[in-house]
Amino acid sequence: MRASTAGPVITLDGPAGAGKTSTAKEVARRLGLRHLDSGALYRALTYALLENGVPEERWSDLTLQELRALDVSQVARGGAFEVRVGGRLVDEELRSSAVTGRVSMLARVPAVRECLLELQRAAGAQGGLVADGRDMGSVVFPEADVKVFLVADLEERARRRVLQDGAADRDPGTVAAEAQAIARRDEQDSRREVSPLRKPEGAVEIDTTGLAFEDQVEAIVDLVRRLTG
Ligand code: DC
Repeated sequence: MRASTAGPVITLDGPAGAGKTSTAKEVARRLGLRHLDSGALYRALTYALLENGVPEERWSDLTLQELRALDVSQVARGGAFEVRVGGRLVDEELRSSAVTGRVSMLARVPAVRECLLELQRAAGAQGGLVADGRDMGSVVFPEADVKVFLVADLEERARRRVLQDGAADRDPGTVAAEAQAIARRDEQDSRREVSPLRKPEGAVEIDTTGLAFEDQVEAIVDLVRRLTG
């Protein structure tokens, strides 16, 4: 893909807790691009289903029409996209344990992926985007200018999540429980039939296990400048 006048399309994929969203947000800010957090869209659909009281047994049979009726949308604002459900801004709600515990299951449903594909592609239509998720470089933006695959050790990812959740608590038991939950989500995201989590063709793999946040941002910004400059 030739970078448009609005700038390149950059994709960041990887497993849960690899630091994709915070990294993508900062990379976008540094490069003057817009950040798309695709996980937030899967979370918004999950939230909408819970809010509407749709029983979980029905989720895998939902039609595209039913999913569209949940009215998940996003609006470009500043350097990001605001996610809305039924026109109402949602943010904190998307990170509740009720949503986090169910989103992987919903993300396996082909109609769900189809429904959100349109929204994601529309966000990147003009270029100038840093998109993070599980299938950004493989399915949603296969022609992206720069593709990054972020990985980190399971233990390190769990430790970061625990700290990120504001827990001053570094209790090894809490980290071990988080590692189990992340491993379960990775397994679901990697083994599903549609758009499984995998390293996209042409992606540069960066292992962030021993890297400070600033260094991983710097590494990606440098890579983008080198490949698109
Ligand atoms: O990045 P996250 O934790 O907010 O993602 C939430 C879930 O959504 C995750 O379990 C996998 C799914 N997801 C996906 O299947 N494809 C994406 N592009 C982004 C997220």
